[in-house]
Amino acid sequence: MSARTLPYRLFTGLALAGLVAIGAGRLPGAEAAAGAPSVPANAPAEPDTLQWFRDARLGIFIHWGIYSEDKNSESWAFHDGAMSHDEYFAQAKTFTAANYHPEQWAALFKEAGARYAVLTSKHHDGFALWDTKLSKLNAVDGSPAGRDLVGPFCEALRQAGLKVGLYFSHLDWSHPDYASILPPGAKAQRRPEYSNPWGYPQGPENPEAWERFLAFHRGQLRELGTRYHPDLFWFDGDWERSAEQWRFKELRELLKAMNPKVVLNSRMGGYGDYETPEQYIPLVAPKGPWEFCVTINDSWGYQQKDHDYKSVRQVVRLLAECANMGGNMLLDIGPKNDGSLQPEQVAVLKGLGRWTHQQARALYGTTAGLPPGYFFGTSTLSKDRQTLYLFYFDKPMGPIALKGIRNQVRQMSVLGGPSLTWKVNGGAAWVKMPGVIWIDLPETAVDPDATVIKVELEGPLDLATAPKVELP
Ligand code: GLC
Repeated sequence: MSARTLPYRLFTGLALAGLVAIGAGRLPGAEAAAGAPSVPANAPAEPDTLQWFRDARLGIFIHWGIYSEDKNSESWAFHDGAMSHDEYFAQAKTFTAANYHPEQWAALFKEAGARYAVLTSKHHDGFALWDTKLSKLNAVDGSPAGRDLVGPFCEALRQAGLKVGLYFSHLDWSHPDYASILPPGAKAQRRPEYSNPWGYPQGPENPEAWERFLAFHRGQLRELGTRYHPDLFWFDGDWERSAEQWRFKELRELLKAMNPKVVLNSRMGGYGDYETPEQYIPLVAPKGPWEFCVTINDSWGYQQKDHDYKSVRQVVRLLAECANMGGNMLLDIGPKNDGSLQPEQVAVLKGLGRWTHQQARALYGTTAGLPPGYFFGTSTLSKDRQTLYLFYFDKPMGPIALKGIRNQVRQMSVLGGPSLTWKVNGGAAWVKMPGVIWIDLPETAVDPDATVIKVELEGPLDLATAPKVELP
């Protein structure tokens, strides 16, 4: 193992408290420090580049690496001082990938209803899953896995008809040249995180080392881009430097020059194509394409003791909420270090698959549904805007209300199930306000995870807004 081992520091109580808080997510105020725009700065060159992504609805995120031994969290474990860098990297000895069958993963993801998957090709610890020629910290040179693990993943996904995403951490807490400069204004701010030796220099800054690091960073991305031609790069770890220091504008150009159709997430100082709310569903739809990433239990990587799995019903609900606002869900799983999956994870994915396949027409290729207030559930709309899909999560206690629809309803049914009856009540034609559509949903037609009601309209959806009252 040729990992550089920095002297392990004892953090002060204050610094440690700050760092532990940081470990749970991204650095507080990181975007402000990096001066990053919150909405992608650059629209994609070709408008259709993102179409597959906009239509996809569901992806599977895979956090897999030497941390999948189960001792502690991915990368943050040594960054936050829960274990030393040596102890952390000793986990590489058990990273065998002995039961790694990417074709089985791909089949399972497809069964779950995913249209793409994203693998951690390199997390913040700097350990690459492909045989990078630029560092010995990789699956071939640094673990008993002894082979490239990214190539077979890409191939298996493509064979199954799924799009290929590669996660890549910009920051690299093991690279000797990474902790070489501070972000602009850092000296004045004196925040506790700057005392972390993995992220920041503890003595004088070294801009030449940073240049070497950038060359290494670009070099690894060139390897990934030219060897695997991913459909999507899922970046992370942009927060410790400014967008200018990372030269993200130039990076975007490089990546798009290598693969003109590649989709980039926004964790590149805002120079990406889509937003990535993490572990929370936005209350208001983000501008442009977006994707909600979420763990299947409470951990990104494999943690045997973490049994806090979301139920199929909960995962369905989260997916339906994303679809309601035109977004995707990227559901994260953590395989063990041998590449096998915990039965609970498989069960959730299969359960989700039962539902997504049955409700496929209401999910894939739809657009955002009704704004709040029209229906107490979520909804999506077909691209021709003539079919509304209502997602209802409970057992009905009586007819279900749908409001503000000016169109005549042609037909209504449970998607893939029986026709439904409905009745319109009230309305005020003189101010063009339609009545309430009361839908009869028999309990026998209720789906245990979420019932989808297909509402076929006369013409494209015509929504009532505020009534127009002519004042004398
Ligand atoms: C958080 C975690 C990181 C993980 C990422 C995925 O930032 O700290 O380990 O890879 O989420 O979005």
